[in-house]
Amino acid sequence: MDYLQIKKVKSLSGNIKISGAKNASLPLIAMTILAKNSVSIKNLPQVADIRTLLKLLSNLGAECNFHDDKVVVNTSSLAQTKATYDIVKTMRASILVLGPILTRFGHCEVSLPGGCAIGQRPVDLHLKALEQMGAIIDIKSGYIEATAPNGLKGCDIIFDKITVTGTANIIMAAALANGKTTLTNAAREPEVVQLCEVLNNSGVMIEGIGTAILTIHGTNSKLLNIEGFTVIPDRIEAGTYLCAGAITRDELTLTNVNAGHLGAVLSKLEEMGSSFSITKDTITIHPSKVIKSVKIVTQEYPAFPTDMQAQFLALATQANGTSIIEERLFENRFMHVSELQRMGADISLNGHVATINGGTKLSGTDVMATDLRASSALVLAGLVADGVTDVHRIYHLDRGYDALEKKLEAVGANVKRLKE
Ligand code: UD1
Repeated sequence: MDYLQIKKVKSLSGNIKISGAKNASLPLIAMTILAKNSVSIKNLPQVADIRTLLKLLSNLGAECNFHDDKVVVNTSSLAQTKATYDIVKTMRASILVLGPILTRFGHCEVSLPGGCAIGQRPVDLHLKALEQMGAIIDIKSGYIEATAPNGLKGCDIIFDKITVTGTANIIMAAALANGKTTLTNAAREPEVVQLCEVLNNSGVMIEGIGTAILTIHGTNSKLLNIEGFTVIPDRIEAGTYLCAGAITRDELTLTNVNAGHLGAVLSKLEEMGSSFSITKDTITIHPSKVIKSVKIVTQEYPAFPTDMQAQFLALATQANGTSIIEERLFENRFMHVSELQRMGADISLNGHVATINGGTKLSGTDVMATDLRASSALVLAGLVADGVTDVHRIYHLDRGYDALEKKLEAVGANVKRLKE
């Protein structure tokens, strides 16, 4: 197994190119199931989750040619409708094939994703909405079996809770449904917006894009002609490198980034003392020498993202004063706290609220990555910790960060990928 060895950094400087967004790429790849043509997607990140979803589609019979940051997917040969446990267990987002396969073939089986490190993460809202659209759902032997022999029908759906992949699943299911689906309390994440825009350009009229009420006019089983497109930049990867600049107090420039997707993150970094120069596709962080404490509550977009909580928690360990971070989305998303405590951080946890007394000196040691974003928080801490930090179990990190150690090394960090 690989691990990352990080030595305390002298200083960082230069440019980091941001990759395409993992969380946009996944639904967009699943969306190719709705196409009658070969779909070309550019600016995909080289991360394990993308390879996993492409493998899942290939196993079902699709042709996927993935080179560099581009894939061409042809799902016309897709013949199977069962996503098996061996793949789904490695990536919960595999559930994204349920909506498109069901709406196209009238049948789909997907292994139940089960719990994961950051919480239970049920998919009940996806299933309830599909039932409202006329699907018959049966859960047996660890599988969701969904059938809709006469196709899905548009209807009015109100999500009890905002769910990102749930919204994407229902948008894709509604795209080929018979009639109009109105989805209320929909997720407004930029990744959902891109899915809507691509579908809208492919003959599925969608109203309310970027709002909490989406109206999707289904094509009544007519497959789509989807033109090639480029995935939006990864706002979470960008936010992570902005935190690298803030925690080391070094100026960094991110390229291929969209500051418009990073409002809440930039605003919290500003509260902590940083300022920014922004162009159409770059952000330069001018960090302050003194990091100020902060109060953060994670919520759905456009509020502060749960996927940036761990990185800000690492940053808060170096702030002057006491920061409070409240996690509202996932019940168990503080596993990085005990690892940061082992490095000397002063953090106390009370339910979903972390209180961080900043200004402690961190020291390098062996730490364990517990989930994707927790991993990058440990890397950030390692950049400023005295001595050497070994981050183990980085297969979590490899799921979602494209060449993290290479990107950090190129701006002056001492990060090496080693074998256990
Ligand atoms: C997506 C992102 C993930 C991010 C999360 C929240 C992808 C591939 N992943 O995950 O990086 O951390 O959004 O921004 O885009 N819930 C239910 N029932 C459901 C579905 C969700 O109770 O059927 C709950 C979840 O347990 C959680 C909340 O709703 O508490 C939000 O989860 P959701 O938005 O669905 O997260 P994901 O789409 O899995």
